[in-house]
Parts: sequence; structure tokens; C-alpha cells
Amino acid sequence: MRILITGASSGLGEALALHYATRENRLVLIARREDRLEDVAARCREQGSDVEMIVADVNDFERMREIGRGLSDQQIDRIILNAGVSVGHSGGVTPFEDFHRLFQTNFLSVHALLEPIIPKLMEQESGDIVFISSLASLLTMPTSIAYSSSKRALNAYAEGLHYQLKPHGINVMTILPGFIDSEMTQKNRFKMPFFMETNEGIKRISYAIERKKIRYPFPFRFYLMIRIVSLFPQSLRDKIVNFTNFKKGS
Ligand SMILES: NC(=O)c1ccc[n+]([C@@H]2O[C@H](COP(=O)([O-])OP(=O)(O)OC[C@H]3O[C@@H](n4cnc5c(N)ncnc54)[C@H](OP(=O)(O)O)[C@@H]3O)[C@@H](O)[C@H]2O)c1
Repeated sequence: MRILITGASSGLGEALALHYATRENRLVLIARREDRLEDVAARCREQGSDVEMIVADVNDFERMREIGRGLSDQQIDRIILNAGVSVGHSGGVTPFEDFHRLFQTNFLSVHALLEPIIPKLMEQESGDIVFISSLASLLTMPTSIAYSSSKRALNAYAEGLHYQLKPHGINVMTILPGFIDSEMTQKNRFKMPFFMETNEGIKRISYAIERKKIRYPFPFRFYLMIRIVSLFPQSLRDKIVNFTNFKKGS
């Protein structure tokens, strides 16, 4: 299989690259930090995989389109759109610049890369497109308005793409993880419920991909809590959100 993974230099992307690094798979890994990406690529090669490394900023949309066009000259079996950033805000109005950056990285970059690849997948009549969204897209806390909004936009995009591409034999999957150990969560200074080790998170994500789950939120208990809260009357939701937000110390 030829598998493309964005954001492969650390965290979930790095662990996914190592998970898929077998003799049968050819990997294309994208991220900005060359040294980190080289280290991941070397370990993947040690496991028998053929690896192409692309050092690029996903916010360079012209470059993403160029990369997408370049990759479309051969079969592409799976694209894992994992590159992402989060910014926490302790209070006040979210700066526009943060909104801009998060929407670029977490949302717009995805279509810049996919636009030239989708026709290739349609021609093949096969392929998996996997979006790494977040449970944070289902409930927006006052401290993560930009992050949750960008991931919710991603969900909407993925939903539409699923309806568009299913008749062409293409599987579009949206994974919505809770808190998993990574560089991103290591920066968090609040208690993260149902926190998961990276390997456990990768086990769940790869399970969802192999089973072609269209939408896969996890851990289930955390997801269930969010769903139950969403059914409460607004006044009660206000109290719960304000209470948990206060407990974060933000
Ligand atoms: N960890 C969690 O609890 C959790 C939960 C839900 C969803 N997620 C999502 O999972 C994905 C991976 O996050 P992570 O937790 O593994 O965090 P991470 O360790 O910080 O990894 C983020 C990856 O994205 C890449 N990236 C960021 N901005 C980029 C840019 N402009 N261009 C190219 N690559 C870029 C980074 O590479 P470079 O810095 O080298 O470019 C890095 O490889 C994200 O989409 C995140 O929103 C994570």
C-alpha cells in the first residue's frame, strides 16, 4: 500500500508512520521539522518500509497542491490527514491570528492537498481518506474556540466528501480522539479526562481505519458524556461548562 501521512514528525503521526512501516507499505511522510522527520523515516526504513520524506509547511497551499499533483502520478491507497495545531486561550478574545493559523493548518491545508488527489482516487475507484479530527469538535469550551471551530469545519468537510466519494469506492473516515499523549497534550496544564497512552490511541485509530469506520469517536465513555451533556437544557449545559472551565484553572 502507498500511504501518505501528514504531521508525521511527532505524536500520533509519528506513531502511525511506525505502525504502517512494513515491507508491504510505501510511506510518504510530511512535516516541517526535517531532523524529526528524518529520524521517523529512518526508523520506518529499519522496519522494512520504503519511505519518501517531504519537508513542507501544510500552510503553504501552493506547495500542497504541487505535492498533491506530484503524488497523483501513481496509485495512492491511503491518505491520513493528521497535521494539526492547537492553541489554548486562558481568557479574553481569541486573537484573529490564532484563528487564521488554526483554520489554515487544521482545515484549509487539507483541501489544498486533496484537491488534485481526489480525481486520481476517483479514477482508481479506491482509496481511504482519513481525517484526524477531535472530540473537541463536538463541544466548544471557552478556552478552545478556535481549535474546536477548525475541527468542526473539518467534520463538515469530511461528511460532504463521504457522500460525494462513497459512490466512487472511496472510504472517507473521520476519527475523533479524546486526549492522547503527544507533544500537543504535553503542553496542557489542565486535567485531561480519560487520558490515553500514544500506543493505545494508535491501536484505536488503526482499528477504525481497518474497519472503514465512517466516524469514530473515542474513548467511548468520554464521547458518551459529551453526547449526554448535549441533550441537557442549555441552562444546565452552561453550569457544567462553567464548572469544568473553572476547574481547568483557566
Ligand atoms: N493528542 C491528542 O490528544 C489529540 C486529540 C484529538 C485530536 N488530535 C489531533 O491529532 C493530530 C496530531 O496531533 P498530535 O497530538 O500528535 O500533536 P503533535 O505531536 O504536536 O503533532 C502535530 C504534527 O503536526 C505537524 N504540523 C503542525 N503544523 C504543521 C504545518 N504547518 N505543516 C506541516 N506539519 C505540521 C507537526 O510537525 P512539524 O511541527 O514538524 O511541522 C507534527 O508532526 C492533530 O490534528 C490534533 O489536532 C490530537
